[in-house]
Amino acid sequence: CGIVGYIGKENAVPILLEGLKKLEYRGYDSAGIAVMTDGVITVRKKKGRIQQLQDLIDQEAGADNAGEHCGIGHTRWATHGEPSDVNAHPHTNQSGTIAVVHNGIIENYMQLRERMGRRGFTCVSETDSEVIAHMLEYYGTGNPIETIRKVTDRLEGSYALAVLFKEYPNRIYCVRKDSPMVIGQAPDGFYIASDAPAILTHTRDVYYPEHGEIAEISESGILFFDEDAQIVEKETIHLELKEDAADKGNYEHFMMKEIQEQPQAIGMLLGHYLQEEGKEDMQKLRELLSTCSRLHIVACGSAYHAGMTGKYLIENLAGVAVEVELASEFRYRRPVLNEGEVVLVISQSGETADTVAALREAKVRGCRTMAIVNAQGSTIARESDLVLYTYAGPEISVATTKGYSTQLVVLDLIAVELASLKERITDAEKNKLHGELMQIPAKIRQILEHKEKLQRAANECAGKKQVFFIGRSLDYTLALEAALKLKEISYIHAEAYAAGELKHGTIALIEQDSLVVAIETQQELYDKIHSNIVEVQSRGAKIFAVGFEAAKKEKETLELEYRIPEIQPFFAPSLAIIPFQLFAYYISVAKGIDVDKPRNLAKSVTVE
Ligand code: G6P
Repeated sequence: CGIVGYIGKENAVPILLEGLKKLEYRGYDSAGIAVMTDGVITVRKKKGRIQQLQDLIDQEAGADNAGEHCGIGHTRWATHGEPSDVNAHPHTNQSGTIAVVHNGIIENYMQLRERMGRRGFTCVSETDSEVIAHMLEYYGTGNPIETIRKVTDRLEGSYALAVLFKEYPNRIYCVRKDSPMVIGQAPDGFYIASDAPAILTHTRDVYYPEHGEIAEISESGILFFDEDAQIVEKETIHLELKEDAADKGNYEHFMMKEIQEQPQAIGMLLGHYLQEEGKEDMQKLRELLSTCSRLHIVACGSAYHAGMTGKYLIENLAGVAVEVELASEFRYRRPVLNEGEVVLVISQSGETADTVAALREAKVRGCRTMAIVNAQGSTIARESDLVLYTYAGPEISVATTKGYSTQLVVLDLIAVELASLKERITDAEKNKLHGELMQIPAKIRQILEHKEKLQRAANECAGKKQVFFIGRSLDYTLALEAALKLKEISYIHAEAYAAGELKHGTIALIEQDSLVVAIETQQELYDKIHSNIVEVQSRGAKIFAVGFEAAKKEKETLELEYRIPEIQPFFAPSLAIIPFQLFAYYISVAKGIDVDKPRNLAKSVTVE
C-alpha cells in the first residue's frame, strides 16, 4: 500500500489520482483521497481499483473539483480488516474535521481502540489506522505539532502518516517511523509519496523525513520539526532516476517489458562496475571484506533466493563462509554474530520492513553492513555502510524479474572480487570470469528470441495443479526462484526441492502425469540429476528439462525441454531463470490472471 499528498497551485484531485496509479504496483485492494477546500474536508474512498475511485469522484463531484489545491490519498492492501469501502483510507474523526492516511501497522491498535472507546470515540472500521484520527482529536492541544507528537508517542509499530486538519487549513502534516516517505519540492508546490517513482514526473528534488520528524507543508513552504518541536534545517536531495517507470510502452504487461529489459539492465550494470566509475565501489568492497571471516546474507522473497545463489558462489569461488537467512527470522532469532563478520542485505525496493529491521539489528550488534539495492535513496541504501546498486531502473510488476537478475550479477561480481582478494584466482582468471559475465546480456537476448517455445510449453502446462522443481547445487538455488515465479503469478502450487532430497519424502507425492521441472546446468552433477529424473519418470511424472544441451543423455525421453546457451556454469542461473520467467508469464496470461498485480501480493512489503 502507499500514501500520496499534494499541496500547491495545481488541481489536487488529478495529481492525487495519478500518484495513486503510480503506486498501484505496490499492491492494493482499495483506494481513497481526502481534499480540503475552504476549510472543508471531503473524503472519497472505494474498494477496488483506482478507476472505481475515479468513477466515484466523477459521479459525485463531476468537474467541480478544480478549486482543490490540497489533499492526501492512499492505496490500501488489507492487513487488519477485509477490503471494503469503510476500511479504505482516508480515515476521519467522528465530526470529519481530521483526515488521515496511514501506511504501516499500528501494533497496539487494540489497546488504543479500547482506550479511545472508553472516552467515547468509536471506530467505524476494522483497521488499525482509524484510531489515529480519533486520537488526533482527543489529544488536540491547539498546536498541531504538539498534537501529532502526543499521538505518535502512543503508537507502537510502523507508520507513514499524512494528516489534514480543518482547524489548520491548507496545510498537510506528515510524520513517519519505519515506513517510507518522500516529499518532493516542485515549482508549483509539494508532492508527498511512499516512494519516488510516484512523483518523478513532477520533481526530482526531494526530502526524506527522518524517523519522528514532523513536516508541516503549505503551498509556500515546508518546515520540519524534531522530537522537541524545534525546527530542523533539511536539504533536498536530487534524484537521478529515469522517469519512464510507469510507462508500459508497447508491452501488454510491465512484467514482459521488464523481462525484455534484462539484457540492457545487466549490460549497464556490468558497464558500471567493470569500468572506471565502478572502481571506487569495488575498492570499498575490498576494504569492507578484507578482514571478513563470515558473511551473513539477509533478505526476503526473490532477494533471498538471489542470496542463496550468492552463498553457493561465494563459498565455492572465494572460500568465504556465508550464511543466508530470511530477514523475518534474522531479526528476532538473535543469531550469532562475531567480530569481523559482515551483514549483506539484499532488497530491490530498499524498503522491505523485515529487511530494514534486520539491517538495523546488524548495526546494533556492531556488524559492518552492506546492501545490494535497486531503489536509489531508499531506507536500506541510506542506512548501509556500503551500497552496491543494481541500476535496474524502476520495477513495477509485482513479480520481480530484472530486479532479481541484476542482484544475481552483483553477487557474481562480489564472488569474483572476493576470490581475487583471497588470492584464490589470478588476475588472468578474474578477467576471464569478467569476460564470461559480459556475455550474459547477449545470451539472454538469444533466449528471448525463442520465447514462443516457452509459450507453447506454458500452454501445455497451464492446467496443472502442482509443479515440482528440482535441481542440485546452483540449480537448486535457481529452482527456488523458478518455483516462486510460477506460484506468484499462476496460482499453481509450485515447490522447489534439492533433487537429492526427493527420496526423503516428496517422492511420495509423485503420481501419473505430475509435472517435474528439472534444471541441469552443473556438469559434475549431470549424472545425479539424471538419476532423479529417471526416479520420478518411473513413477509416472512428466519432465520439463531446462539446462545446457550437453546435459541431455542419449536415448533420454523428455516431454518438454528448453536448452539455454552455454556459459561458465557459475553464471548459469542468470540464463536459466529467463525461461522460467517466461514460462510463468505465459501461464499467467493463459489463465487470464492480472499478471502485474497478482492477488494478495504487494511489491514492496513495508509491514512485518
Ligand atoms: C515482495 C515482492 C517480491 C520480493 C520481496 C522482497 O514479496 O513481491 O518480489 O522479492 O518482496 O522485496 P525487496 O524489495 O526487499 O527485494
